[in-house]
Amino acid sequence: MIIKIDTSLVKGNNYKNKLNTKDNKFAQLMHLYSLAMRNVEEKVDSINRDYREIYGQDLINHVMCRIKSPEGIIKKMKRKNYELTYQNLIENINDIAGVRIICRFKANVFEVIDLIREFEDCRIIKEKDYITNPKKTGYSSYHMIVEVPVQLDETKLYAKVEIQIRTMAMDFWATLEHEIKYKSNGQISNKVSRDLVIYAKIINKIDNKLMKMHHKKYKRKIELSE
Ligand code: GTP
Ligand code: MG
Repeated sequence: MIIKIDTSLVKGNNYKNKLNTKDNKFAQLMHLYSLAMRNVEEKVDSINRDYREIYGQDLINHVMCRIKSPEGIIKKMKRKNYELTYQNLIENINDIAGVRIICRFKANVFEVIDLIREFEDCRIIKEKDYITNPKKTGYSSYHMIVEVPVQLDETKLYAKVEIQIRTMAMDFWATLEHEIKYKSNGQISNKVSRDLVIYAKIINKIDNKLMKMHHKKYKRKIELSE
């Protein structure tokens, strides 16, 4: 379905207008982000298919996509002290469209990152490697902010998408840690914080051991088939 989108929000006079999440213009803007998200999702599906055909195994376990809710957007802009304008939303909020790629083994995460760098017509804006340098909380994951094109009639626009790439083990920790923090309104004791860091380190060790075990098995399989 082709829907006419008013691009003046992104390019024209409306840019500096105050945000109104009930406005149809806001819904149109969210649709743009949704198209950008699907663009990334399709590219990711395609590398996973190619990889399976060539290497006979999965590069990616699964992919999750989401668009940030209007409430989530307003909350974040207020937290970061941005005036609620379309301009600030477009220029400063990078995770309206989010794609999370979950791999089985750590080595696969870095293969995915290399393949994303090769994506056609995809600009990489920012990268954060919380795998090599985990956050103080213990959080580990690789983040990329990219810009991908969205074609609307004759106009080609670029929209930002946040891609998080991590292993199943990292995802397991991050999901439960988020739940534990969320349930206690972000107020967790020092003991719980320390324990979460310790568990993240243990999970990381297991992740490394399983990757080595898999690598050995895989090498053996190749040797046997030669
Ligand atoms: P945000 O303002 O939250 O987007 O942070 P940022 O701009 O500094 O970006 P960063 O790359 O550090 O984090 C972005 C996203 O990563 C968050 O929205 C979460 O989804 C995830 N994340 C970052 N830190 C943690 C953490 O300690 N625990 C969990 N569970 N997730 C985290
Ligand atoms: Mg976020």
